[in-house]
Amino acid sequence: MAEKKIKVGLVGIGRAGWGMHSREIEKYQDLYEIVAAMDPDASRLAEMEKRFKGCKTYQDFDKLLADKNVELVVVANRSPEHTPYAIKALKAGKYVFVEKPIALTYDEAKQLLAASKKYPGKLFCRHNRRFESAFNHVKEIIDSGILGDVYLIKRRIHSFQRREDWQTIIDCGGGQLNNWGPHIIDQGVQFLDCKVKEVWGDLKKVNALGDAEDHVKIILKGESGRVYDMEISAGVLFREPVYSVYGTKGNLVLETEGGKIQLKLLAAKQNYKHELSSRISPPITGAFGEPETLKFEDRSFDVNPNWEVDIWSIYKYLFNTIRKGEKFPVTIEEAVEVVRVTQIVKDLNPKFKTPDPEVVAKIDKKEKGVKAVPAKKACAKAPAKKAPAKKTAKK
Ligand SMILES: NC(=O)c1ccc[n+]([C@@H]2O[C@H](COP(=O)([O-])OP(=O)(O)OC[C@H]3O[C@@H](n4cnc5c(N)ncnc54)[C@H](O)[C@@H]3O)[C@@H](O)[C@H]2O)c1
Repeated sequence: MAEKKIKVGLVGIGRAGWGMHSREIEKYQDLYEIVAAMDPDASRLAEMEKRFKGCKTYQDFDKLLADKNVELVVVANRSPEHTPYAIKALKAGKYVFVEKPIALTYDEAKQLLAASKKYPGKLFCRHNRRFESAFNHVKEIIDSGILGDVYLIKRRIHSFQRREDWQTIIDCGGGQLNNWGPHIIDQGVQFLDCKVKEVWGDLKKVNALGDAEDHVKIILKGESGRVYDMEISAGVLFREPVYSVYGTKGNLVLETEGGKIQLKLLAAKQNYKHELSSRISPPITGAFGEPETLKFEDRSFDVNPNWEVDIWSIYKYLFNTIRKGEKFPVTIEEAVEVVRVTQIVKDLNPKFKTPDPEVVAKIDKKEKGVKAVPAKKACAKAPAKKAPAKKTAKK
């Protein structure tokens, strides 16, 4: 017998709620039904009523929580609201699927972890890039050992753009550390495949029109010694490959997500001249490196992981967990570890401070609605200093 559909209450009908969650749920319409939506913006709710027949709409979160028909609350509003909304929904007895970042601070993440323990099996994090085909294929290749001992993995999300939405404004919870960061840090922690021992990070604002960082450079070192070097930057015109992997027996490169994985591997048969380094003075005409010619093998193939997933698959796994009791591939502890890393990077770059919840709470509702707020207006925290009155010289 087919399992009952999961009845969803979608919170935040923005780019993610309307363009991603709703589309993904439409794809899995035999598994889910959107029965309610919540957003302060009435026009967006009207669109949801048109798109999903019978969808109840609310401008008040408490009313959505009081709707007994809602089983799963999807928290897809702005980032500073994720933790408080998720905790409130757990307390209301709902299943919760919370967008990334699950929290803006490590303290908040620990509160969410505590709530998830109080309501076990109810909270799930949307680290959907864990299901990305390229990430999984690259990880499978690393894990296969074909590259030897993998000592460095580079991950790049490069662009050159002058972004201007709330994701560029600190007090709105913006900045690439909390936007792309959770995805790419999460992938890094998976690549390290051990505890993160050291974290270094640099944040900069290069092109965005708000005050938050749009350039993120983080280096993670695992207990095993493996290093993960990631960049999310809106200031790069010469883009580097999205994945570069260095191992003792070969390298891997993937130029773009949809491109071909390229491997250069040390061939199995070699004519090695030397087995050990020599301490004695080399001949006066001796070479400075490359004492022997190595043989390599080149391979190139499409992205096609054994684990047949893509970033849309997360809703399928969520259904199998809620209805069939299967293990969800992303744990809360893993998502909390990502926030621990972002907290360290924030602490290293205090200029890009975590927004003050009181300031966030005061942001005008209208600013969260349909119209984009000019970054300059939203960033203006201190009143602009008055220009000194021009002295009119009296003769
Ligand atoms: N996992 C992913 O791949 C992915 C992709 C994009 C965005 N996101 C995340 O989704 C979240 C939303 O991003 P977005 O780009 O859709 O933002 P958005 O500004 O496009 O949409 C936010 C929506 O929330 C509504 N809203 C504002 N205050 C609200 C409140 N108190 N309660 C309920 N709704 C409220 C707004 O009216 C708007 O419709 C962000 O936290 C972002 O990190 C995740």
